Amino acid sequence: MIKKNLKFGLVGAGFIGRTHALAIHATRQVFADLEYLPVPHMLCEVSAALAEKAARNLGFERSTDDWRKLVDAVDAVIVAVPSQLHREIALNAFASGKHLLCEKPVGLNSEEVEQIRAAAKQSKGCHAVGFTYARAPMIMFAKRMIDDGKLGRLLHFSGRHDEDYLADPDATFSWRQESKVAGRFGVLGDLGYHILSIGRMLCGEVRAVCGLTETFYPERKDGSGTVRTVENEDYAALVGRFANGAAGSFQSSRVARGSKQNLSFELSGEAGTVRFSAERLNELQFYSATDESSTQGFRTILINAAHKPYDSFIPAPGHGLGFNDLKTIEIRQFISAIAEQRSCPPDLDDAYAISKICEAVLQSNAEERWVNLR
Ligand SMILES: NC(=O)c1ccc[n+]([C@@H]2O[C@H](COP(=O)([O-])OP(=O)(O)OC[C@H]3O[C@@H](n4cnc5c(N)ncnc54)[C@H](O)[C@@H]3O)[C@@H](O)[C@H]2O)c1
Repeated sequence: MIKKNLKFGLVGAGFIGRTHALAIHATRQVFADLEYLPVPHMLCEVSAALAEKAARNLGFERSTDDWRKLVDAVDAVIVAVPSQLHREIALNAFASGKHLLCEKPVGLNSEEVEQIRAAAKQSKGCHAVGFTYARAPMIMFAKRMIDDGKLGRLLHFSGRHDEDYLADPDATFSWRQESKVAGRFGVLGDLGYHILSIGRMLCGEVRAVCGLTETFYPERKDGSGTVRTVENEDYAALVGRFANGAAGSFQSSRVARGSKQNLSFELSGEAGTVRFSAERLNELQFYSATDESSTQGFRTILINAAHKPYDSFIPAPGHGLGFNDLKTIEIRQFISAIAEQRSCPPDLDDAYAISKICEAVLQSNAEERWVNLR
């Protein structure tokens, strides 16, 4: 059967835009059962020269320095630019009936996520958000174990996403520290969003939080040596209650010396516990209270064909996936959602709920009290 092409447009070819570009190509090769063939059609960057060069390097058919032209030319738009631009591009895409894969945090604050979500509801376009880690096979498998009752009643979740990209006090000021470009959140909108997406996926809605934030380095020099004020938090922590009665704690830091991709969690239920770390992306640790006592202990489950869609990448167990493969899974899930005319969770609804949690953390810290959500 000849498959219909789905023309993709990529806005932004920086750190994460590049991984999306690689993923569009890889999706065609990795997944034989695609409903549509993704075509890397148009790439947009800040200047025509930059766009042309990136399009050539990343295998796109056309390039532009005007994202409006891109929206007109494609079926699906990937937004991989700083948060300041998310809203306008997303609203434009939905008004034109295009599908949207938007990077987190989706706009500058919860009001913008809500506007984008409202536009999605009026549009025939499908939507997904770049909650990349939530699509990791071993995390999706942990979710399946919970749904199958392997952990029993959930008791407590403890998760963190720490990195050290700003641990050096002399690290250069970037758009991520400027609230008019990055939005209301610092590390919360960058790393906190990921671990919150996983906590919610596994344990459900968060109902109340008590938060703490810190900006350890209030000033940094930009590329020209000018001292700039850091306008958002380096560190955030919260304790919270899930609607199902489980307790939760979360932390995110961009100044955690030695943490390179420390997205990790431990979730305990009455019948067992799971542990995961993105630095060991292809493993899940599981302790079962029903194991025979003489051999009881945490066992390491290594990725294999049972952990879909690993076997689409490689038939041999334990050989492993990496971050770029998670982006490929994201594109594959997005294409399926488009074919089935539904959204692709974690999606704009999840981004909205997470933006409200993060705002509650900032409020809790400012007012030194617990904050209820809804
Ligand atoms: N899902 C993830 O794991 C993940 C990881 C990193 C970043 N992100 C998100 O992706 C987004 C981009 O982050 P990044 O790290 O790639 O940033 P980046 O600074 O590396 O890249 C952004 C790119 O956007 C381009 N750009 C800026 N304005 C533009 C415009 N008007 N038109 C076209 N291109 C424009 C810049 O030239 C740059 O190349 C952010 O929302 C960020 O939170 C997600």
